[in-house]
Amino acid sequence: MSFRFPDSFLWGGAIAANQVEGSHVTDGKGLSTSDVQPKGAFGEPVERVDGDFNIKDVAIDFYNRYPEDIALFAEMGFTTLRLSIAWTRIFPNGDDAEPNEAGLAYYDKLLAELEAHGITPLLTLSHYEMPLHLAKEYQGWASRDVIPMFEKYARTVFARYGHRVKHWLTFNEINVTLHQPFTGAGLPREVDEQTRYQAIHHQLVASAKAVKACHEMIPDAKIGNMILGAVLYPYTCHPSDVMKTLQQNREWLMFGDIQARGYYPTYMTRKFKELGIEIEITEEDEEALKETIDFVSFSYYMTGCASADPEISDKAAANMLEMVPNPHLKASEWGWQIDPVGLRYLLNFLYDRYQLPLFVVENGLGAKDVLNEEGIVEDDYRIQYLNDHLFQIGEAIQDGVDVMGYTSWGPIDLVSASTAQLSKRYGFIYVDRDDNGNGTLERKPKKSFYWYKSIIESQGEKLIPSE
Ligand code: BG6
Repeated sequence: MSFRFPDSFLWGGAIAANQVEGSHVTDGKGLSTSDVQPKGAFGEPVERVDGDFNIKDVAIDFYNRYPEDIALFAEMGFTTLRLSIAWTRIFPNGDDAEPNEAGLAYYDKLLAELEAHGITPLLTLSHYEMPLHLAKEYQGWASRDVIPMFEKYARTVFARYGHRVKHWLTFNEINVTLHQPFTGAGLPREVDEQTRYQAIHHQLVASAKAVKACHEMIPDAKIGNMILGAVLYPYTCHPSDVMKTLQQNREWLMFGDIQARGYYPTYMTRKFKELGIEIEITEEDEEALKETIDFVSFSYYMTGCASADPEISDKAAANMLEMVPNPHLKASEWGWQIDPVGLRYLLNFLYDRYQLPLFVVENGLGAKDVLNEEGIVEDDYRIQYLNDHLFQIGEAIQDGVDVMGYTSWGPIDLVSASTAQLSKRYGFIYVDRDDNGNGTLERKPKKSFYWYKSIIESQGEKLIPSE
């Protein structure tokens, strides 16, 4: 018998301001760290020079075309859309005395459009961008001074949008500061561990302060964290591999542990000692961290392995997350290993650990789509990927896990965060634009558009069982 997802389950997609909006200096917007990464998070930040091409300056022009895009999301039956606010539209420099009214007004219109289509927003406060001014003048999150600036930004948007937005997230993939310090925290790539963990600490305190502000200002709202669910399996059943896996998983679990429990886990004491660092944690910080999240959200794209054998673990050096490839799994064109069962595993694992509702806020397949003779993308590979992952979410729900919803990554083609390619497409909706900025920006539903619509309509009943 096929499984029907609970009526309360939210269905939708996820986008981020810097990957869709474009209009990077329109209506008083300031430059963000994302605006100086024309090659994406994997490339080096650059000084902007007039005339230099940056695909994100236009992206997919969501800034102007959102009514058309939201209408298409509604046609698929979305009940939620995860999106982010560009901090630099509200506080162009981050340390401004007053918010930018034009930026606030833009999101008023956008949120009203969602409301008109019956789509509930899930709003991320900071998705991989901070005001560039803060990175340059304050060393990004290395500075404690940024905490009150972020809190002021959060309070400003809670006051303005609280009547419309009941689901919030603080920092996107907060654990990525471990791997991409500029993208995550406005820090230089070669940052020392002392500075990196101090910056992470400041982000965690700022996140908790936003949670507190949200609880005070919008009592009927829920606010969650957002972590990259980079789960690792032991490469073999050798006890040393198992222990190494525990230790490596704790590196990213630390973030959720603090945000969900309200204090540093004891295993970090040894970790800090081994790194030879000491984090400044004030009494006020400890108090702030006690304000915990209402739900846990995460992105899920792949799993990998951990090994205590240096010859094998060396193979991991090539990828950002330092994962040893799993010999049992296939990979996407970008080498991301595809593991639907891993999603069921992770949902169970996180629910056992936190006993909080979970939200899968990113998942999807980046692929090079080709238009057929009729100009349509027949993306059966994407349908397969999403079917298999959604089926495993259904399994996890039947395991007893409380899953609030699912927002697939990039329901409309957008600019890749890691490589700034538009040719790495995730969408149900094709956008006519290439990596060099050529194209009309026209939108066209792909085959997967109609497939996702049917899955939402059937409340998951049309999913095909898979391993
Ligand atoms: C997540 C990010 O890491 O993965 C998104 O939160 C990102 O911003 C997504 O786009 C997919 O990664 P990429 O590099 O393919 O865009």
